[in-house]
Parts: sequence; structure tokens; C-alpha cells
Amino acid sequence: MNSSKLFEPRSLGGISVPNRLVVAPLTRTSAQADGIVGPMMTDYYTNFAKGGFGAIITEGTYTDQAYSQGYANQPGITSSVQQESWRPVVDAVKSNGAKFIMQLMHAGALSQFNAYNTETRAPSSVLPKGEQMSVYKGQGSYKTPGEISRPEIEQVIEGFVLSARRAKQAGFDGVEIHGANGYLLDQFLTDYTNNRTDAYGGSVASRVRLAKEIAIAVRQEVGPDFVVGIRISQGKVNDFDHKWTGGLSDAEIIFGALSGIGLDLSLIHI
Ligand SMILES: Cc1cc2nc3c(=O)[nH]c(=O)nc-3n(C[C@H](O)[C@H](O)[C@H](O)COP(=O)(O)O)c2cc1C
Repeated sequence: MNSSKLFEPRSLGGISVPNRLVVAPLTRTSAQADGIVGPMMTDYYTNFAKGGFGAIITEGTYTDQAYSQGYANQPGITSSVQQESWRPVVDAVKSNGAKFIMQLMHAGALSQFNAYNTETRAPSSVLPKGEQMSVYKGQGSYKTPGEISRPEIEQVIEGFVLSARRAKQAGFDGVEIHGANGYLLDQFLTDYTNNRTDAYGGSVASRVRLAKEIAIAVRQEVGPDFVVGIRISQGKVNDFDHKWTGGLSDAEIIFGALSGIGLDLSLIHI
């Protein structure tokens, strides 16, 4: 097998990445209790850059001080203090030659810990399948979420937009919207967690609407010279085997909705 292409540079949106080796987003829960970058994080990310990876996507980072946080010791990007705490990590990664992309995440019903709220929110009040992950200090069933209201949906969108702006100000090269793995945007997309009868529920086109609106709003906020991507998946951290009910026809609608809206990167984790 010829792997030389892996080591060739490529462009991603407006930036040039030195090779095609990209570190996948990996939740580590090593931030401080208040969502500020912890001391282990700089070493962790810098080591990948020193090792020659062309780009690194951060762990899922929460986007607002309402319902987005998923895990204890998860980092956030919801205030200028959290924003500035990322700067030394960004500087260290970029001075070692890698591009750095922040993954923006809203946990929705799968939130196991939230410093700002005791309740959870999701498209519909449906108890999540499975159990909380003990590796992230969770225990037992998830909470039954409250149905998210339209004003709260607006807050979610604003959270992603402001977080993208903060990531740009902190020196990141781009953001990836976490639309995968069972978290809030995937809860909207998934038939059995979304029973809404408004514009965000019902058909697949309506269930992907929130992810699409967020992608459009983020792109508008950060302008053209900043990478904006989205990650979507069928499987979930609490339901590994889920498949889109409509199969290929659902895929066509989802990919169609997310194309032509200015995204540079779509990671499909089937
Ligand atoms: C400990 C752990 C944490 C993860 N955290 C995230 C995350 O924060 N965001 C995300 O999109 N995926 C996350 N993932 C999924 C990985 O990015 C990756 O897709 C998964 O490990 C499968 O890898 P593979 O596609 O090489 O099989 C995590 C996986 C693991 C094992």
C-alpha cells in the first residue's frame, strides 16, 4: 500500500494542513472544575503536534452556561476566562506546526454533570437509553430531560455562535460542530428521541434543521477564513448500533441539508 499521500499537505477551507493525519476528538475530562483548561491539557495536545500530526480536533467543549455541559471536568468556551485559558494550548500546538480545531458540543439529554443547571434539556422528554458512563464519573440511569422550548433553542444556537467566535479569538484555526454520538443535535436527528410537532420535529429534513441552522449561523459569525465542520453519526455513546431508519434515503436528505451551506469539513462516522 502506498501511504505517501498521507504525508502530503492539503487545504482545508482557507487553511493549509501539513499532512492528512488528524487527531480525532477525544473527551478526557481533565479540565478544572470550572471548565478552565487544566495543566495536563497543554502537554496532551502539544505532544500530538510534536509527533507530527497535521491537525488536532479538541475534545468536545461545552458551549453555554445553560444546559450544554455533559461531564465533570469537561472544558468550556463560554466566557472570556475559559477562552483565555485555551490560548497557551493553542500557541503551543500551533508553534509545533499543527492546525488546531475546537469541537463544540452540547450534551442535551446525555449530560451527566452540569455546573450551571441540575435539569437536562432535549428535543422531547424521552428517557435516554442505557446508563451514564462511569469512566466520566456518571452512575445509573440518565435524567429524563425536559422538552427544550423555542427560546431555549435560540440560546443553544447563540451558544454555538458565541463559542465559535471565542475559539477564533483564542487563535484556533476552526471549529467542528458536534452533531454526532447521541448528543443534543443527534437527539434532534434521531427519530426515537425527537417527538416534536414543530419545525424541528417530524420529517428527517425537519429533524436535521437545528444542526443546519447552527452551521449556517456559525459560518456567518466567523467569516470565510476559518474552518467550520460538522460531525454526524448513526451510532451513539448510549446506543452503538443505531441506524437511520430510512437508510440511504435519510442519508441523502441529511447530506443534502448539510451541503452547500459553507461547511469545509463533514465527518461522517457511520
Ligand atoms: C475515550 C473516548 C472519548 C471520545 N470523545 C469524543 C469526543 O469528545 N467527541 C467526538 O466526536 N468523538 C469522541 N470519541 C470518538 C472518537 O473520536 C472516535 O470516533 C472513536 O474512538 C472511534 O475511532 P475509529 O473511528 O478510529 O474507530 C471518543 C472516543 C473515545 C474512546
